[in-house]
Amino acid sequence: ILRPRQPRPLAGKRVLITAGPTHEPIDPVRYIANRSSGKQGFAIAAAAQAAGADVTLVSGPVELRDPAGVTVIRVESARDMLHRVQAALPADIAIFAAAVADWRVANEGEQKLKKTSAGMPPLQLVENPDILATISKLTDKRPPLVIGFAAETEHLIDNAKAKIARKGCDWIVANDVSPATGVMGGDRNTVHLLTRDDKDTGVDGIQVESWPVMTKEQVAAELVAKIA
Ligand code: CTP
Ligand code: CA
Repeated sequence: ILRPRQPRPLAGKRVLITAGPTHEPIDPVRYIANRSSGKQGFAIAAAAQAAGADVTLVSGPVELRDPAGVTVIRVESARDMLHRVQAALPADIAIFAAAVADWRVANEGEQKLKKTSAGMPPLQLVENPDILATISKLTDKRPPLVIGFAAETEHLIDNAKAKIARKGCDWIVANDVSPATGVMGGDRNTVHLLTRDDKDTGVDGIQVESWPVMTKEQVAAELVAKIA
């Protein structure tokens, strides 16, 4: 049976995607994490693969199966994620959907921390590397299209505009992750696509497109169509 051939607008393109949370160790048995399920990043990987791209997905710990035909690299911490992303370059398009933990514990315990009469263990936090900003600011291997996400619970558009400028990326997918929206862990997403063609125009040169509520698969398909 002859089927009409699928349009493969991203054929020959290398797409690099991050997804999921990161786990930052406190001691050998405990970690800091967040509520990201990885669903949006995995859906984008599947959509890009279906569009013909050669896709590498660097994911933190999630309970999702590898999308067919995608190279999946599983990591734990933000630092692991950064190293695997750097090793996966060059890419034509990089999409940073991971909810990277902003902080890790500086004084990680080599042994399990024990309850003592001296009180709670003090946890000192240090900032993790910013993977999106690091890759956006590369001079030699910067992918021609760098897309970030902005997870916000208030002042969504203004915060996302500031983020696109600060990080040096080309587009940002902004989404409201307030608990009432059910985005974190859920199957639907309401996003706004912020784009800028010229980095010199600052926040004034950023266009905002607001999309209706969609499934994460639909958001992925729309984003891939836009990229194509
Ligand atoms: N990101 C990243 N590495 C980090 C933190 C964030 O690559 N250490 C990426 C995310 O994958 C996302 C974008 O940066 O694409 C924005 O993440 P977000 O958490 O919304 O922004 P932050 O800059 O961390 O600011 P804040 O959490 O304070 O809003
Ligand atoms: Ca953050």
